[in-house]
Amino acid sequence: MDNEDVLNSEEQKEDEDLEQSIRPDRIDEYIGQSDVKENIKVFVSAAKMRGEVLDHVLLYGPPGLGKTTLANIIANELGSNIKTASGPSIEKSGDLAAILSSLEPGDVLFIDEIHRMPRFIEEILYPAMEDFTLDIIIGNEGNTRSIKIDLPPFTLVGATTRAGDLTAPLRDRFGIVCKLQYYTNDELSLIVERTARVLGIGISKDAAFNLASRSRGTPRIANRLFKRVRDFAIVDKKDTIDKEICDVALDRLKVDKYGLDDTDHELLLAIIKKFNGGPVGVEAIASAIGEEVTTIEDVYEPYLMQNGFLKRTARGRVATSRAYEVLQIDYQSKIFDD
Ligand SMILES: Nc1ncnc2c1ncn2[C@@H]1O[C@H](COP(=O)(O)OP(=O)(O)OP(=O)(O)O)[C@@H](O)[C@H]1O
Ligand SMILES: [Mg+2]
Repeated sequence: MDNEDVLNSEEQKEDEDLEQSIRPDRIDEYIGQSDVKENIKVFVSAAKMRGEVLDHVLLYGPPGLGKTTLANIIANELGSNIKTASGPSIEKSGDLAAILSSLEPGDVLFIDEIHRMPRFIEEILYPAMEDFTLDIIIGNEGNTRSIKIDLPPFTLVGATTRAGDLTAPLRDRFGIVCKLQYYTNDELSLIVERTARVLGIGISKDAAFNLASRSRGTPRIANRLFKRVRDFAIVDKKDTIDKEICDVALDRLKVDKYGLDDTDHELLLAIIKKFNGGPVGVEAIASAIGEEVTTIEDVYEPYLMQNGFLKRTARGRVATSRAYEVLQIDYQSKIFDD
């Protein structure tokens, strides 16, 4: 392990500890997403009153909107234990069988990135979700038989950034499907203020709002920016983060007033400069800026599209006039219009 690795892992550990301390663990501390929250409250209470397990829940939406947080909150509100697995780490059918057979009655099984589970493993989930049974095949070639094992009733909570990548049979087995939305700036302000409170530092209202409005509707980004801004305040020996220090820090971090960072700028700039504003395929954009197609599709595009910087057409991506405005490029100079 070289120096950089040591630093990275220490920093990572610190980030994880911090993450743990600022993560709300009850539903009433979970800010925003009011529809989702209200529904979950009702379903959880009803399940408790019936003395049955909660129906399986699918949470989907862009990264950093609070899926993992909500999965943990659901378990807390049910008063259940949570076991966590992630789609890509379940490689063999035995892996999933082992997880399922370790469940206790009423447990919540949280599978993150559930869309990345191989299809043949996914099929094991169907009877487990529907009838709480596990069908396993034992024996070897020519002499196999299938046995059924009863599982205790449990709740599967699946999270995915791409509901579209889920197969229909899997999607249909979730009784409760929740789509998380980008947060408003007011909601993000509350999240930032809460984080400040938990970490024991003050923040003025306008600083919180400023931070919120540059966080692309995403709590994870708001908290990340908050941590960096807090560093600036600490160095300046301030016990309250004000708008001034916030502005200085965010400019240093190169986050513009729309919340767009270097990669967003690079992406829009590539479409405009290299592809004459589009339409252009996502693969071409990916190779022009050296990012993965999936990162562009899952992380960058949703926010850019939602906020009118980018359009998706049948022929590819197109930069909008708003993108030209942000990059201070004359829209009239575009040769072909879309
Ligand atoms: N509604 C909320 N209220 C307060 N804090 C929140 C809320 N949602 C998320 N957060 C905070 O945002 C951060 C990211 O949330 P989380 O890890 O749950 O996102 P995620 O959707 O699971 O992301 P990914 O798709 O990358 O796994 C956490 O630090 C969490 O504390
Ligand atoms: Mg998560």
